[in-house]
Amino acid sequence: MTNPQISIRNLCVDYITDAGDVRAVNNVSFDIGKGEVFGLAGESGCGKSTVAFSLMRLHKPPAFITGGEVLFDGHGDILQFSEDQINAFRWSEISMVFQSAMNALNPVLTMEEQFCDVIMRHTNFTRQQAIRRAEGLLEIVDIHPSRLQDYPHQFSGGMRQRLVIAIALALNPKMIIMDEPTTALDVVVQREILQKIYALKEEFGFSILFITHDISLMVEFSDRIGIMYSGELVEVAPSKQILETPFHPYTEGLGSSFPPLTGPKTRLTGIPGNPLNLLEVPKGCRFQARCSKAHEACFSQPTQLTQLEPNRFSNCHLFTKRS
Ligand SMILES: Nc1ncnc2c1ncn2[C@@H]1O[C@H](COP(=O)(O)OP(=O)(O)OP(=O)(O)O)[C@@H](O)[C@H]1O
Ligand SMILES: [Mg+2]
Repeated sequence: MTNPQISIRNLCVDYITDAGDVRAVNNVSFDIGKGEVFGLAGESGCGKSTVAFSLMRLHKPPAFITGGEVLFDGHGDILQFSEDQINAFRWSEISMVFQSAMNALNPVLTMEEQFCDVIMRHTNFTRQQAIRRAEGLLEIVDIHPSRLQDYPHQFSGGMRQRLVIAIALALNPKMIIMDEPTTALDVVVQREILQKIYALKEEFGFSILFITHDISLMVEFSDRIGIMYSGELVEVAPSKQILETPFHPYTEGLGSSFPPLTGPKTRLTGIPGNPLNLLEVPKGCRFQARCSKAHEACFSQPTQLTQLEPNRFSNCHLFTKRS
């Protein structure tokens, strides 16, 4: 990709615990374009949040970034930033919307306090200027500015999530990471919020890393999707193609695990077997034990994400052998 917003190269993250060292993110590489929505999908525990937190350098021990580079729009490698550099960078260049709005907001402070805290910490705005900015942000997410005086519990779940989004927008970041931004909400509110986010993205031009369990929502709202399995990126493709013509057997399995958006009803098959125990990573492909197409190379040679078509990548031996 020419001139991406962010370039993640061979990112490795380990959890170093008494039970053993776990490589939760292994050699993950992908780019997100300017203004692009990139979806990251995969079973629970495959490493999506670990990637998200590492990009913001918000990971905490026992998680350690053990390799790779994260290049952000001419700023160099985020992973090499000093604490001061990363503190200035976080929220103003990349911000994040966490899964639970209630945990992201401070229950004992009014929203005015919370907005002013973020804005005044990162700019030289006066309090009055910060309040004006906060009022503007509330309007952007369709909440009346007078509600700045309210506490988080005085808002509905959907409104709280919109408040968190408004805080993420406060410093005009170039990229927003959204880790399960609407999982706690009902389906109708979920869609409304995602439509709002999408409209804001069109208006302000930021990029989005979008993480969700809901593959149909992801296909609808993302430009491209990366599928993770056991800490590795196994496939990257435009969202319209990834389920229609999957290259990786795991993606194929994901596609048959949920009902199609359109067309006739089909029997859902799912993916047999369990996710890999990361303490016992086999030689060869990490998906080998669950793959009906596994052959000799899959048990002996490690896989590598390989470009197969201009906009398509997969790490499956079935395809890499052909190219
Ligand atoms: N504090 C920790 N100590 C040890 N291992 C951890 C810790 N936190 C996460 N892990 C392991 O790292 C792996 C990736 O976890 P992560 O939370 O990134 O997955 P995820 O894809 O975001 O899952 P989910 O969809 O459930 O949010 C998992 O196998 C998990 O067991
Ligand atoms: Mg997660």
